[in-house]
Amino acid sequence: MAASILVLLVPLRSARGLTNGLALTPPMGWNSWNHFGCSVDESIVKSEADAMATNGMKAAGYQYINLDDCWQTNRDANGVIVADPVRFPDGIKALADYIHSRGLKLGIYSDHGTATCQGKPGSYGYEYLDALTYASWGVDYLKYDNCNVPPNDNTNVDDARMAGALMASGRPIVFSLCDWTFVSYMPDDGNLWRTTGDIADTFSSFAANLAGDSPMAYFAAPGRWNDPDMLEVGNGGMTATQDQSQFSMWCMLSAPLIAGNDLTSMPASTLADLTNAEAIAVDQDAAGEQGIQVAGTALRQVWCKPLGTDFNTKAVALFNLTSAATSMTVNWTNLGMMAGPATVRDLWAHADLGVFTNGFTTNVPGDGVVLLKVVGTGPVLPVLGTNDLDDLQPAYAYTGSGTMVAGKSIGGNTITLNGVTYTNGIGVNAYSGVEYRLGAVASRFQSDIGVDDEVGSNGSVVFQVYADGLKIYDSGVMRGGAPHQTIDLDVTGVNRLTLGVNDADDGIANDHADWAGVRVIVSNSTPVAPGPPVGLTTSAGHPVGLMWAAVPGAAAYNIYRSTSGNGMFTNIISTVLPNCLDSNVSDGLTYYYMVSSVGKGGESGTSAVASATACSAPAAPTGLTATLSGTQAILDWNPAPDAASYTVVRATSGAPYAPVAAGLETTDYTDTNRLGGANYYYAVASSNGCGQSGYSPYVFASTNVTVGIRQSGSNVVLIWPEGTLQSANTVAGPYSDVTNRVTLYTNVISQPQQFYRVHIP
Ligand code: GLA
Repeated sequence: MAASILVLLVPLRSARGLTNGLALTPPMGWNSWNHFGCSVDESIVKSEADAMATNGMKAAGYQYINLDDCWQTNRDANGVIVADPVRFPDGIKALADYIHSRGLKLGIYSDHGTATCQGKPGSYGYEYLDALTYASWGVDYLKYDNCNVPPNDNTNVDDARMAGALMASGRPIVFSLCDWTFVSYMPDDGNLWRTTGDIADTFSSFAANLAGDSPMAYFAAPGRWNDPDMLEVGNGGMTATQDQSQFSMWCMLSAPLIAGNDLTSMPASTLADLTNAEAIAVDQDAAGEQGIQVAGTALRQVWCKPLGTDFNTKAVALFNLTSAATSMTVNWTNLGMMAGPATVRDLWAHADLGVFTNGFTTNVPGDGVVLLKVVGTGPVLPVLGTNDLDDLQPAYAYTGSGTMVAGKSIGGNTITLNGVTYTNGIGVNAYSGVEYRLGAVASRFQSDIGVDDEVGSNGSVVFQVYADGLKIYDSGVMRGGAPHQTIDLDVTGVNRLTLGVNDADDGIANDHADWAGVRVIVSNSTPVAPGPPVGLTTSAGHPVGLMWAAVPGAAAYNIYRSTSGNGMFTNIISTVLPNCLDSNVSDGLTYYYMVSSVGKGGESGTSAVASATACSAPAAPTGLTATLSGTQAILDWNPAPDAASYTVVRATSGAPYAPVAAGLETTDYTDTNRLGGANYYYAVASSNGCGQSGYSPYVFASTNVTVGIRQSGSNVVLIWPEGTLQSANTVAGPYSDVTNRVTLYTNVISQPQQFYRVHIP
């Protein structure tokens, strides 16, 4: 029986479907697949959790113990997913409890198709039931695979349905999409998404996944991560140098750090790699920017990942993909920094190397990475007046094909949109990301955008503008030959402006995108703070919930509270997301709140005041039972203390709960509106003046209708107690009523096969 869930997520206003506030830095953990494959069991998983909790990994930030494929066997008569009773005899709930007792979290695995990649039951059509089941077990993370999808299936719809089911489950669950390629809906539906096929334990495989993960770098941000697949470090297929290279490059990618080796029997050197705090700090940097290759060649790559938001600090990887040691150089101008002095620290040697002028040269072992932190001087700020962006030094700039030349299309021609030529602009090819330091002095961002005339009616792209990681503009799909658009956006207080172009999910051929005449207008000589948040709303409860509209340029928000409307307000919380929960409240007291934005140019004024009285909703009812009486279901539950009324909700496995009765003052309810043969899941919540509890554990009630069959000569005789008989030629239908029959039907068997069911209205 499922445990009741009392945690209610605050729904956020956002274009994103998934607003669970999780994975603000890339998830860190372990997954069973790379080392154990299908041979995973309870004792292995417990041992891995014990190892992680005690060997220094937990202290280094690792959190998730993730079961991959093969933990499940079948669905029970009610459709509930069943853990393999031989390999997980105590069940997943007990395993979750064990892992939680070690201070860690449990991840689980399913598939948006009808079966997983190893042929276990998938979640297709069972999304809501599975999400509720995982929540009742205490699952914290779901990896959602891509095998055995029905013909003409829409992955986007499936993933969105599971995202909604997880959000509705009442438990915070990280959602990890595993569709083996990037599609542009994914940042809206997942906390992370696989960008490539499966990794193998070889140098060439990790290098291929590194390359495949890189184009969509500009999407990465707190809560949304590109996933180049798990670590193979320590699995034996690669040399010690190659292992260290994968770890270094995964940190450069802001990749999830999901170890894939056996944590119970690794050499000290592998553990040292996995727990290198300075490399992990690169991966977990709070700004959440993904690194990209900024210089070098295919075999000698110079990578840069901005750290923090000051434009002066970069992680740098010098990656030698040849087998022979080689000398490699990074110039500060490759990193979006000024020439001149900068300090260099080696993050594997844990040593400051000194101050170097204009660049740094070192010897890199074959297949090796030298991982550095460079602190120098960021690009100068735009100046008062109009600044053509192609005259400014970007923090980084990459394009999916060709070479960017300031003021030219990616084909090297004069930028031209619908016959109009431009002397300034940035011509790119999808996928492209270009980032600038605005330093909170600019007020407007302006550009014409479109596909360059040089490709005629070919090419299709999406232009996106991010302000300090918050998307403030999305063009939708723009095609070659279509009219260009003109954009003019408020960038007051914005420090970091990122211009992204993606391929509109149809490949990058001919995706010649122009930011034509692109410029920023600077009207402040000194940085200004972002605007104050608007739309602050509160929700009474315990905790009190707060949310407000995200502000471009806000890197964080301060929440101020007072216990009287005009009294002393104190800063109680700082958060990077535009919402928070205040748990430090006493029931019956009214609290007053204001919120400010904090950006590069300082702190804004405060928002309007919003208040809420702390109070506790009743606990969820216990002891819910469902008894069938004919086609009706009679529900009964125990009274919940402090409950004023009850709400009954009902679901089928693939659909969310929907209320069937609200405001009930008794502790029972009879559902008379049921379809014979269908499985229904019921739950009940209690309410009082403060709000609604979580749902009770769910119960099932499926109506079984017995149909008798008797042969009479060449006739088949069907007998049933009530309802209307329907027949079809295939099991999936379409079914139509067999007219004028109430409880008895005799038919000459004329078809090779016939299907019957009873419909009870
Ligand atoms: C797919 C996934 C892998 C792993 C296996 C399990 O191949 O991409 O990461 O989960 O399925 O069957």
